[in-house]
Amino acid sequence: MNRFKLGAGRLRPQRFLAAAAAVAVVGAGMSLASIGAAAAAPGCSVAYTANSWNTGFTASIDIKNSGDPITSWALEFDYAGNQAGSGAWGGTLTQTGKHVKIVNAAYNGSLATGASTNIGFNGTYSGTNTAPTAFTLNGVACNGGTTNPTPSTSATPPVSPTPDTSPTPGTTTPPPGTHLDNPYVGAKWYVNADWSAKAAAEPGGSAISNQPTGVWLDSIASITAPAGSGYTTSLRGHLDKALAQGATLAQFVIYDLPGRDCAALASNGELGPTEIGRYKTEYIDPIAAIQADPKYASIRIVNIVEIDSLPNLVTNAGSAAGATEACRTMLANGNYSTGIAYALSKLHAAGTNNYNYIDAAHHGWLGWDSNFAPAATMIADTAKKATGGVNTVDGFITNTANYSALNEPFVKINTTVNGTSVRGSKWVDWNQYTDELTFAQGFRNQLVSAGFNANIGMLIDTSRNGWGGSARPTAASTSTDLNTYVDASRIDRRIHAGNWCNQAGAGLGERPKAAPASGIDAYTWIKPPGESDGSSTLIPTGPDNPAGKGLDGMCDPTYTGNGRNGNSMSGALPNAPVSGAWFSAQFRQLLANAYPAL
Ligand code: BGC
Repeated sequence: MNRFKLGAGRLRPQRFLAAAAAVAVVGAGMSLASIGAAAAAPGCSVAYTANSWNTGFTASIDIKNSGDPITSWALEFDYAGNQAGSGAWGGTLTQTGKHVKIVNAAYNGSLATGASTNIGFNGTYSGTNTAPTAFTLNGVACNGGTTNPTPSTSATPPVSPTPDTSPTPGTTTPPPGTHLDNPYVGAKWYVNADWSAKAAAEPGGSAISNQPTGVWLDSIASITAPAGSGYTTSLRGHLDKALAQGATLAQFVIYDLPGRDCAALASNGELGPTEIGRYKTEYIDPIAAIQADPKYASIRIVNIVEIDSLPNLVTNAGSAAGATEACRTMLANGNYSTGIAYALSKLHAAGTNNYNYIDAAHHGWLGWDSNFAPAATMIADTAKKATGGVNTVDGFITNTANYSALNEPFVKINTTVNGTSVRGSKWVDWNQYTDELTFAQGFRNQLVSAGFNANIGMLIDTSRNGWGGSARPTAASTSTDLNTYVDASRIDRRIHAGNWCNQAGAGLGERPKAAPASGIDAYTWIKPPGESDGSSTLIPTGPDNPAGKGLDGMCDPTYTGNGRNGNSMSGALPNAPVSGAWFSAQFRQLLANAYPAL
């Protein structure tokens, strides 16, 4: 994969070890038998989770309407402590003392029977951040079951919640057919046993081998995993294992476009630039058919759609400075856009349990003004071509397989050094963002402006952006020299933010986590830690390179760079196998430099 230019941004307070508090409160829904049709019977269930750090927290609330359809709502609850909420998304929050009231936003006021919406807000607290346990929706208690506003024609007394309406915190089960605003909330994520076994076999690897990681469908053969193909588990095999694990969410990477990876060589694909027909019929159609199998309806299937492709058309095609011939071809023939529109249509139509997230590069690629809005527009134009248009898109992912730091506490976009903005430093290079979290939140807004639904959520791949270990700065530099300050203060220790292959010094990032921050559906490990980004020398096609993958200079530690990384050294680890193959030395480094530490 190509990992373009450098990074910049603004920021949130630095996260320290996050403690998750979770509570789920579920009402009984239609607990009265034979409710008169004319009467609007309210009923609701609420699942509240909060990720806390120091004196701050982010709350995520799933609201489910289990009563008759409603067109507006107000959710109310009380805190036990001194929590103060603000900056809500998905609603307007007002707080009087301990009492919190959140009124729906324009897009989520209408909730059909069984429909849900996810909202959230940021807060501060001191002492203990105890989660509220009693909620009302439109004045009706959500933990007390449904109440009927008109006298029931039935003499049946209200039934108390059945056991399955009291789920364990964090594992709420929506009724089949519900398309959730944030599928990650309350889900049990599938752990890929193939990756897990490799991780567990490494020294110390069992500390993380039970983490969920992305399953890459990176060729036609990966769908069925025939003998001799090099794949151990087929798509059905993964979904069957997910069922066996009791998982309710599984993550797949859709990655086989014609002319794939047009600005790099390490992940060149199997389909030529014009093979759009094969992409549709031999790749997307079979995936969609398998994912549509009712057997898998209980699994929220997340599809991460085509890494790097549309961003490459923005920055590395046409007359762009970084243009390559291969990207020019793909822009001209339209097959990235045609393929993605087709994938969105088919995968969305595969079931209400399917969720599409399009790749949105990372801050060190799209964070410049010249790339930011054009990228959102190009992605929106592509999605509008899908059957179902922008409604086929649930969100976007940033930093897939990249190394950009989540937060840069000492190099915020508005930090100045001796009166000069860090934007002018060599590292930031006039980017508008310095880290992934601010970029993901900012790009979300841009995508909504470009035509995507207001409730889209972002994912951030945090598999390898931890940058812990002894090289991690613990305080801002005291230097008054701009470049010295930025280079000594930044969390991201790369030589250049355009470096993307097997980066020396990187560590595991935030563990996978649902709804960690405003606008973010999850931190997730899409690139499986320990899988190489590309070989450090050319490996001939054969047993160590069955797919005939190329050598990209950015994976060669002796390479002195190109225009896309400021002609800097690549910063890549030596002795790397081809992309996707297990790279033990890299895995061990990621463990050692994990942040938060393991
Ligand atoms: C490779 C894929 C691999 C994926 C996950 C990509 O760079 O091209 O073949 O499955 O990384 O490791």
